[in-house]
Amino acid sequence: MFPEHRPRRLRTTPAMRRLVGETSLRPRQLILPMFVAEGIDAPRPISSMPGVVQHTRDTLRKAAVDAVNAGVGGLMLFGIPATRDAEGSGAIDPDGILNVALRDLRSELGDATVLMADTCLDEFTDHGHCGVLDADGGVDNDATLRVYAEMGLAQAEAGAHLLGPSGMMDGQVGVIRAALDRAGRTDTGILAYSAKFASAFYGPFREAVDSQLKGDRKTYQQDPGNVREALREIELDIAEGADMVMVKPALSYLDVIRAAAEASPVPVAAYNISGEYAMVEAAAANGWLDRERTIVEVLTSIRRAGADMILTYWAAEAAAWLD
Ligand code: PBG
Repeated sequence: MFPEHRPRRLRTTPAMRRLVGETSLRPRQLILPMFVAEGIDAPRPISSMPGVVQHTRDTLRKAAVDAVNAGVGGLMLFGIPATRDAEGSGAIDPDGILNVALRDLRSELGDATVLMADTCLDEFTDHGHCGVLDADGGVDNDATLRVYAEMGLAQAEAGAHLLGPSGMMDGQVGVIRAALDRAGRTDTGILAYSAKFASAFYGPFREAVDSQLKGDRKTYQQDPGNVREALREIELDIAEGADMVMVKPALSYLDVIRAAAEASPVPVAAYNISGEYAMVEAAAANGWLDRERTIVEVLTSIRRAGADMILTYWAAEAAAWLD
């Protein structure tokens, strides 16, 4: 008549709940994506991502030091150039904004954090695609690979510890690995955006980087319904030399994170992207959600799904709470 089994016993006190917690969420598991823009003299707010800005070189340096002091595990840097062209040449230029900012941060922080760079052309091209275009306006996979190899090398030389190829070109991890090795940069690693889906949740990011894109990325990013294909992408990237793999976005893809975690012999990251951030911020600003509780629950769920680390715009703030 009374229950023999009482799981509630393990929920009776905060100390008991802490003792039996299955999922840890630590500052070191959080990676902060940051934006740095060329030619601005004050940080520029991103309206669809309240609290996130395009940094100047100066404010980037300060914010990066603060984030590292808060305990985050790493920083992922995106650059917004002042001018763009069809080939995205600002990505390769050692004086391009992303490379200059990497140099700033590496000299400021040394090896105190893991410095990562987005290795992709979309911020640098005047058409907004992640690669260079062929005569018909399609994204030319193999021509893009040549640019990625040079871009990756420039980022390694500028001080990135990890490169983050996010363009979803076939073979991108392999060519970047080969270029690094040929140049003797065998210590520079690759965090491959392996399973990256063509998602509507990237919307606010497109504002964040002043994206020039018209149309979509469906010929290179994955169809949201495909998990088997995600595992194939992960397998190929590992075979090409990826040191870590990523699933992106996170929240609508928790099952993909779980599948990746079970299959992958290397660490798995998940990207809690701009649209996921914006939804929570918008609801919290309206008083519809408890902001801090929601953020911790979101991050915990991504860890529970199997991600070893999470890229999140809340990284620095959440790291401070978790400490
Ligand atoms: C491509 C890139 C994108 C994001 C990170 N790298 C956007 C895209 O594919 O359109 C999205 C990140 C986010 O939405 O927070 N360089």
